Amino acid sequence: MKIKILPSLLAADFGRLESESKKAEVSGADELHLDIMDGHFVPNISFGADVVSMARKAVRIPLNVHLMLSRPDKYIDRFAKAGSDTILIHIESECDVTATLESIRQLGVRPGITMNPDTDPARLFPVLDKVGIILCMTVFPGYGGQKFIETVVPSMRAVRNKANEMNLADLDIMVDGGIDLNTCEVCAKNGVNCFVAGSSLYRAADMRNDISLMREKCERALII
Ligand code: DX5
Ligand code: ZN
Repeated sequence: MKIKILPSLLAADFGRLESESKKAEVSGADELHLDIMDGHFVPNISFGADVVSMARKAVRIPLNVHLMLSRPDKYIDRFAKAGSDTILIHIESECDVTATLESIRQLGVRPGITMNPDTDPARLFPVLDKVGIILCMTVFPGYGGQKFIETVVPSMRAVRNKANEMNLADLDIMVDGGIDLNTCEVCAKNGVNCFVAGSSLYRAADMRNDISLMREKCERALII
């Protein structure tokens, strides 16, 4: 299964978002991760669909859009139009999750579901066959630069084992929060193949080098 590394634009210099997006692409990123926060579902506000449109013009790699919104169902149209390739919503959000995932698919975008660190992974099982990607948050969403929460590791394994049992061989499982060259390894060992990294990659002296090191480590550690 392919390892994918996704720099998170939240950790970029907001005065230069276009060149920071391009930096991820030329450094070998598989996709660009964009964090959308509404100040209600999470205690912070980031940026909106216009930044997704900017990134769409700036890079050719897929845009992986993480909606931290209480009512993602009200906004998927505009994030689809802005050029998202994947739209992730939270299982904890206040909408009909199954219907919203279906609407995302109907807009021609790959749907994904996200769980917070303290959410029971079994809550995701009913929608595993309705998404292309699962995101296990390894920090409580809202801010970059937080510490990786190790107790989420069994949830990653539970989701991958369930996907295996359901013959969902192509299901991507992603982690987000506190991911660096050390924490990525235990995730790969527990079935994770997609890695979002904000601070660790945008603060790296050489992003290209760190993306390639992270990819090698994860390829070696991966156990599906
Ligand atoms: C957190 C966001 C993350 C964030 C990760 O709410 O979902 O994508 O950018 O940042 P780091 O990698 O710095 O923990
Ligand atoms: Zn995110």
